[in-house]
Amino acid sequence: MSIQSNMQRILITGGLGQVGSYLVDALHEKAKVTVLDNYSSTTREAVPQDVHVIKGDIKDEIAANLVKQSDVVIHTAAQISVTASMENPLFDAQNNIFGTLNLLEAARNSAISKFVYISSAAVYGNTLYTPITESHPQDPLSPYGASKLTGEKYCMMYNKAFGLPSCCIRPFNIYSPRQDPHNPYSGVISRFIEKAKAKQSPVIFGDGAQTRDFISVHDIVDMICLLIENENANGHVFNAGTGKSTTVTELASMILNTFDVDVPIQYMPERPGDIKYSCSDISSAKKILGFEPKVSLENGLMEFAKCK
Ligand code: UD1
Repeated sequence: MSIQSNMQRILITGGLGQVGSYLVDALHEKAKVTVLDNYSSTTREAVPQDVHVIKGDIKDEIAANLVKQSDVVIHTAAQISVTASMENPLFDAQNNIFGTLNLLEAARNSAISKFVYISSAAVYGNTLYTPITESHPQDPLSPYGASKLTGEKYCMMYNKAFGLPSCCIRPFNIYSPRQDPHNPYSGVISRFIEKAKAKQSPVIFGDGAQTRDFISVHDIVDMICLLIENENANGHVFNAGTGKSTTVTELASMILNTFDVDVPIQYMPERPGDIKYSCSDISSAKKILGFEPKVSLENGLMEFAKCK
């Protein structure tokens, strides 16, 4: 038997998206990687040649067939816009709930060794305390948060009822150079960097004292790789953050320094519904997975500067 045929078969749903595309890069030389993506928000032009890309939807039969032919499923595909979920909760649920269920149902009677589900810190809703542990109350403020939480619940239920080796992560604020700054739903880092490159003032909503736990996509990929290897992770949900919080004003200053731009910061009224403080407790991921975030925010921001 050749080495090639011994390789794990990994299916990455949403493999052209932000998290999915970095997973592809990290895994394609070690495993036989297949990407299922509906091309709704691609972040890259070309994928490595040894990766099989299939255009299709997680709700369709093709997705179920691909799951059955895989050893590992990493489910990153989702309707990711909070605003879109507010406008069309049914569309959000069809993708994030029924799409996920379609994959889980296919996985139920298959021989897969791991099903990893990418949830979101949006499941927590308003922060009652920081750092936020996985047991913090989960009271989503949007259909998106509710659908992500439902997806998690199904993953954990399939573990308990059917013995599916599934686990979930709840990423905090992920950043990477592949996040499109022109997308209105793009995160604060991409927006500030776009401004810095144009030598324009970053715009802070509110007083800038609000905090976020910004995590590099590379650390998210690391955590997912640890999950794939670790049987003790099955049946667990893990916060995916750095455990460090940064104020939005600190972030703006760091970005201006990184890009060596000297412009004043502009302040605008607070964004309605904005969460004030957010920071993850990652003790569980440290203990069970041996996870340790490696990319400091300074180095993560440098990566953007090197890109262009
Ligand atoms: C994220 C989601 C948001 C969702 C929330 C709930 C993204 C991009 N945003 O918001 O839709 O409601 O989780 O979990 O996924 N900010 C500025 N200037 C800017 C952009 C943002 O000051 O140009 C501030 C925001 O007001 C906020 C902070 O930066 O206080 C972070 O914003 P963002 O990157 O949108 O993330 P979340 O607020 O965590």
